[in-house]
Amino acid sequence: MVYPVGAVFAATAYFLLSASALPIRREVPQEHSHEPILTSVRASLNINNPNAIADPVFGLLGNAAAAGGAGKITNLDCLQQATADQAFTNAKAAGDVEGMTNALIFRALERNTGKVGLASVLCTETAANPEIAAVTQHQDPASTGAAATNKAIVLALAKQIASIGGNPQDALKSGTFAPGNLNDATAKGNTCDDANDLQGCIFTQNLLVEDATADEINAAVSGVAVASSTATSAASSASASADAVCSTVTVTVSAAGTVATDAGAATAITSAAATATTSAAATATTSAAATATGGNLQTFTGALGGKSAPAVTAGGRGFLVAGSDSFLNVGAALGRSCDIQHNQCSNAANSGGGFAVGDCDTQNNSCHAAITA
Ligand SMILES: *[C@@H]1O[C@H](CO)[C@@H](O)[C@H](O)[C@H]1NC(C)=O
Repeated sequence: MVYPVGAVFAATAYFLLSASALPIRREVPQEHSHEPILTSVRASLNINNPNAIADPVFGLLGNAAAAGGAGKITNLDCLQQATADQAFTNAKAAGDVEGMTNALIFRALERNTGKVGLASVLCTETAANPEIAAVTQHQDPASTGAAATNKAIVLALAKQIASIGGNPQDALKSGTFAPGNLNDATAKGNTCDDANDLQGCIFTQNLLVEDATADEINAAVSGVAVASSTATSAASSASASADAVCSTVTVTVSAAGTVATDAGAATAITSAAATATTSAAATATTSAAATATGGNLQTFTGALGGKSAPAVTAGGRGFLVAGSDSFLNVGAALGRSCDIQHNQCSNAANSGGGFAVGDCDTQNNSCHAAITA
């Protein structure tokens, strides 16, 4: 990723999601180009964030700026991977395929570097999740060999998305901008950076350059089966015995929800996976029907700073948060809703909302208490 060489962005402050943190200076203008990916990864990360990573955006910054929000991660070349890895782990535990997909896409986003045409350093640590480990970040499109490198990254990403049951064409969303002119010290023409464009300015301004065609993606993922552990996780109401059986075979779940096993799979596997799929769907339908009066299953009404917990509605694979994030379990969806509210509340607190982040923490606890009551 590029930024204007020699330019100084002293006026722009980035606020951490903490009342005590000092504003830090930003010097790179593209880390918010794919905002929906950041938003999704933030929500997944916040479910469980043992390394205290301040926000996913830090993983997309150059190392000097990344240090300001890396938490316990000391190898800054690996902050992006560590962020993606934890978000993926959390989304997987929640049976959230969209969250897992976005964690994978996040891993593939380009990181800022110091000048046009400079590639970012690759992380040499191994991610906990093999899906994350199989993906690396886009490189500056003006760097040497970038077109081939970035195409290979997108095809690898598509395979991993396919392997978890996501839509492999989503890999194209990880694309970057048209190359900047190496001789142009401002190099701004092709880029955008707007944290307030929740749809992602690279998409809304039509600046994304796709690295591969849809057909190339389809060809790359042909024969990729949904990994057994993912199928089990996605059908999160599966019994423990189904887990144990599924761990040794490949299970392919079609879009229609039917389950096919590979040639050598035992019948027991088919029934375990089928049970998992059925019970998840049944649970979703039953509890949604039981409580969905008025459509919104989120009953917590606290709204500090005017930020209410986003609606949870029946839909998607069971439940949708804010109409998009899809979950199998209503509990996970409601928890995500509380977490999103906490983030929005903290942002409001840090933007002079007239209350403290601590008040948002208190509200978050009330929200989680309300949804488990
Ligand atoms: C929100 O509250 C829940 C339950 O009290 C807690 O587990 C979670 O860590 C809180 N989230 C934040 C960001 O403080």
